[in-house]
Amino acid sequence: MPSTCDVVVLISGNGSNLQALIDSQGADNPLRIRAVVSNRAEAYGLQRAAQAGIETRVLDHKAFTSRDAFDAALIETIDAFSPQLVVLAGFMRILTSAFVEHYHGRLLNIHPSLLPRHKGLDTHRRAVEAGDSEHGCSVHFVTAELDGGPVAVQAAIPIDPAEPIEALTERVHAQEHRIYPLAVRWFAEGRLRLQDDRAMLDGKALPPNGYVLRS
Ligand code: GAR
Repeated sequence: MPSTCDVVVLISGNGSNLQALIDSQGADNPLRIRAVVSNRAEAYGLQRAAQAGIETRVLDHKAFTSRDAFDAALIETIDAFSPQLVVLAGFMRILTSAFVEHYHGRLLNIHPSLLPRHKGLDTHRRAVEAGDSEHGCSVHFVTAELDGGPVAVQAAIPIDPAEPIEALTERVHAQEHRIYPLAVRWFAEGRLRLQDDRAMLDGKALPPNGYVLRS
């Protein structure tokens, strides 16, 4: 295992998960964020990166004529930093299979639901409307199926049907900031891997919903 794990983080917006990852770096954590790439120039996460002294790049998807062309340029931008891991942190673009295959086994995403429940958008409202007793977030390896790759870590919290959606969203967000640094750290330490389409921790296959934290 190399002494550090170079990571490129992709964002589109606020970047609170990026901030949690920045804050998790330290002498006892091999994670090193080498660059932050955003498809939106106004993403607040770019300021967070700059404040932490991390290089930033903006690649506006609207400047490209096709998804293939955008993803090819994205690969070139990312690979200039030779990362061992690419982390999607609120990167709100659907990626081509060429992109996903290029980073097979070294591409992580965080999704605001207990996958496989509630793939896609508007997950908090959908969890409440479905009458779920629990909701949460998942870190998963990215594969060709949208929000469908093997889950590494989940955080589950109880749903109170009387709670406003905004409060539930905030509680899930707080859990995201807990599990993303954990999963990325495990990957950086060489403990978390994708093998034969299963997420493995310390050489053992994780269950389909990953390593689950409850609170
Ligand atoms: C997070 O809640 C993340 O789970 C979600 O975007 C938000 C980004 O917040 N991602 C997705 O919905 C991907 N399908 P942040 O910019 O503050 O980290």
